[in-house]
Amino acid sequence: MEYEKYRSVDDSKTEWVKCIQYEDINGAGRLYGGRLMEWMDQVSGIAATRHCGGHVTTAACDDLQFKNAAYINDVLVIISKVTYVGRSSMEVRTDVYIEDRESGMRRVINRAYFTEVHVDDQGKPAKVKYGLRLESESDKAEWEGALKRIEMRKKRRAEGF
Ligand SMILES: CC(C)(COP(=O)(O)OP(=O)(O)OC[C@H]1O[C@@H](n2cnc3c(N)ncnc32)[C@H](O)[C@@H]1OP(=O)(O)O)[C@@H](O)C(=O)NCCC(=O)NCCS
Repeated sequence: MEYEKYRSVDDSKTEWVKCIQYEDINGAGRLYGGRLMEWMDQVSGIAATRHCGGHVTTAACDDLQFKNAAYINDVLVIISKVTYVGRSSMEVRTDVYIEDRESGMRRVINRAYFTEVHVDDQGKPAKVKYGLRLESESDKAEWEGALKRIEMRKKRRAEGF
């Protein structure tokens, strides 16, 4: 696709930090997964908005993996970035970490790819004006991966999922 203007992956990168509170905890004493999904959706949407410069809606989320639990008072970090741009859709990778207070080291607790769609004032899909400028090998690898993930999503949708 041809674009007049481009934005880099870093332009959309969004980092969100939160200290986990009592109201975020479930009956088993861990972070409630649904709450985490809500936060991931919000941060993903902001990253997509930063890329397209307009309104977005979430069309899909895949590969949501809960790798580790999180607990009260943990420092939670969510990082989202646009990895691929289609006509109206953008793929956003969202990683969730717990940051160790002493060392600052981050361990992954969750990761997912969101499909965010740029929409007009009527909520209809609208063309994304900005291409994605791939500046690093990692940006290029994510783009290549997105092409495969898009094919998998199309196949699953065709199968009725
Ligand atoms: C997302 C939405 C705007 C797409 O509208 P649509 O009429 O189906 O439009 P299209 O089929 O042309 O799809 C638009 C783009 O989204 C992509 N898309 C739509 N549904 C998708 C899905 N389930 N998974 C992945 N991509 C999807 C299409 O591939 C297309 O990408 P492209 O423009 O880059 O080629 C519409 O389905 C919608 O409003 N859904 C509800 C969204 C919502 O309310 N989200 C909040 C959570 S409840």
